[in-house]
Amino acid sequence: MKKIMLVFGTRPEAIKMCPLVNELKNRLGIQVSVCVTGQHREMLDTVLNVFDVKPQYDLSVMKEKQTLFSLTTDILNDIQKIFERESPDIVLVHGDTTTAFSAALACYYMKIPVGHIEAGLRTYQKNSPYPEEFNRQAISSIADYHFAPTEAAKDHLLREGKKEETIFVTGNTVIDALKTTVRSDFHHEELDWAEGSRLILLTAHRRENLGEPMRQMFRAIRRVLSEYSDVKALYPIHKNPLVRGIAAETLGDCPNLHMIEPLDVIDCHNIMARSFLILTDSGGIQEEAPSLGKPVLVMRDTTERPEGVAAGTLKLVGTEENIIYTHFKKLLDDDSEYRRMAETVNPYGDGFACKKIADILENALK
Ligand code: UD1
Ligand code: UDP
Repeated sequence: MKKIMLVFGTRPEAIKMCPLVNELKNRLGIQVSVCVTGQHREMLDTVLNVFDVKPQYDLSVMKEKQTLFSLTTDILNDIQKIFERESPDIVLVHGDTTTAFSAALACYYMKIPVGHIEAGLRTYQKNSPYPEEFNRQAISSIADYHFAPTEAAKDHLLREGKKEETIFVTGNTVIDALKTTVRSDFHHEELDWAEGSRLILLTAHRRENLGEPMRQMFRAIRRVLSEYSDVKALYPIHKNPLVRGIAAETLGDCPNLHMIEPLDVIDCHNIMARSFLILTDSGGIQEEAPSLGKPVLVMRDTTERPEGVAAGTLKLVGTEENIIYTHFKKLLDDDSEYRRMAETVNPYGDGFACKKIADILENALK
């Protein structure tokens, strides 16, 4: 029996790893275990519940206003004991979080093979996004198997000198997740509230945007909302108290905006599917929106998801108030611009990424 351990700790990692956990559990000859770091708490737990994944280990590292130092050192210290107890044949990590980086580093120290899911995304700007660009490049230098979502991601890895036989283009597991979450008979009280209006979905959390960039983003949105009576915005707000502080200050008394607790993943995907457009600095939403045909204004200076920009669904608008204001208004006023961006395209795979990854691992671990 070969042992595969999956390590993750934040909401987006869980959304993209839980379908893989469930796929691997169906494979004979593989013993699957899950270690969550608890980098996130409530936002992680709701995803585990939705996918019915019960971790064998939970490091529970989350602290209020945690720092990159505390996260990295707590995870490194705690995970060593778990790896010693379990002796996995391979550890799978996802993407670019501090959980993924710290777990991969621990594997390197203990000479445990690493499989990197969602490998090869790059901006090549080490502070944007911060610290994710560093994390994913560091993980690539450790990983033995690189599961790239797209050909472009594979090309990055090849150019960085990774051996072709270690890179597998599988699509993104988030498309697998989307296939199970979006339903035609979905109801939600916030959709009732927005009935008859154009619904805007807003999310924001990036570390490099905390402070003035986020204030500018929110001010732009507030200005636009004050000019349209047929537009309503829903803002499921990240649990980060720093985000909450800025949002309360700049959006607190905005009449046509509802600020609510984070949505569970089923609600989020279904509300995305019914929204008019999305404003976000999130990574995962940039992958989901093209296959739902929803235009996205990406409030960041860089993106590691150029496929969605090339497809026309994503527009990178930065974090300056006037620029966001102008682009947001244009999409509300200009129907042909809107329709150009609302094409449904899916650059991120056919929804069978988990099956492909499990097949490859099954074969490799024989
Ligand atoms: C983390 C990841 C980021 C990812 C994002 C997804 C790092 C460095 N950052 O950023 O790559 O895009 O998750 O959302 O790995 N909090 C709660 N409850 C929760 C979750 C968070 O209270 O369920 C609060 C805590 O006070 C915590 C703070 O949010 O200290 C920030 O969480 P953290 O994981 O450090 O940063 P994120 O911005 O969530
Ligand atoms: N999401 C969610 N509830 C919310 C907001 C987002 O379930 O209230 C989902 C979203 O659909 C996507 C993922 O969370 O799958 C993105 O996570 P986040 O923006 O926190 O992180 P990132 O993708 O930027 O790393």
